[in-house]
Amino acid sequence: METENINHEFLDGVLEGHHPDVYYHFGVSSEDAILDPLREVKAIVMAGSGGRIKEFADFWSAANGDSPIVAFPKEDRFVTRYTAGVLFASHGMGMPSASIALQELMRMAFFLKDGDLDALDEVFWARVGTSGGVGLPGGTVVLSSEGLMADLRPFRLLRGLSGEYWFDGAFPEATRQAILDANADAGIPLETGKTVAGNEFFLEQYRLDGALRLESHETKMTWLQWLYDSGVRNIEMEGAMIAGYLNHWGFSKFAMICTTLLNRLEGDQVTASPEELHRYSEDSGVVLFNYLKSSLLPADGE
Ligand code: URA
Repeated sequence: METENINHEFLDGVLEGHHPDVYYHFGVSSEDAILDPLREVKAIVMAGSGGRIKEFADFWSAANGDSPIVAFPKEDRFVTRYTAGVLFASHGMGMPSASIALQELMRMAFFLKDGDLDALDEVFWARVGTSGGVGLPGGTVVLSSEGLMADLRPFRLLRGLSGEYWFDGAFPEATRQAILDANADAGIPLETGKTVAGNEFFLEQYRLDGALRLESHETKMTWLQWLYDSGVRNIEMEGAMIAGYLNHWGFSKFAMICTTLLNRLEGDQVTASPEELHRYSEDSGVVLFNYLKSSLLPADGE
């Protein structure tokens, strides 16, 4: 872990009992007993929608002998469930929303692991979601190797007085390989590649079907081809920030697993049927759970 990048000035005071940490958007604080069972957390799984979080938690509970599910009371921003060592949390859409969820979850993880950096580094993080494929048909699950912004440069934020804060968007290779190994027999089309996180579903993804249209067919195809030639295989809205913040603290186990809903080289609108969309969404969950089972559940006979 990169301890110098952790906000010890604020977070150590929580451990020392000087002040609580209020995870406002999750509706809980470090002083709430609801967090007690979460000290055992081994994985933190994020997804855009609250509905998926509930489905994930139900599935993981059933896979673990109907283990009890803890639900945080506040759900107007993010939906959260904890069961059998996994904290599932929604993050909404886009990097501004997801950055709030992630920063509060990182603070929570620091508190839950009592500031023990080795224990913290054992925690696996994942975002599971949907994306637009670049040269891949709908229904392909992409494991991201790197998260970049629409200009193929890493995630950065405005630093008001002087320039920008920059982050490292790499996803760890060893985790990606472990997920691939766990899914070798899954029968799901799996690809690895770079992922672009757009700040906008329409404009920063060069769609021509938004209310605003600032690009032409030619500039759109030039951008998409540039992405493809640069090794980008999908486009979503959170990964560059998520990798950037997790790298900033120095976590070593994290991944992004996103199904493609369409091939952006062929169009802009998501026209897959409800049945197809359901299957696409299930498949990224299967890839995640195959990995969680291989890494968190005891092997047969143990
Ligand atoms: N999510 C995105 O951000 N873009 C797509 O094209 C599909 C899902």
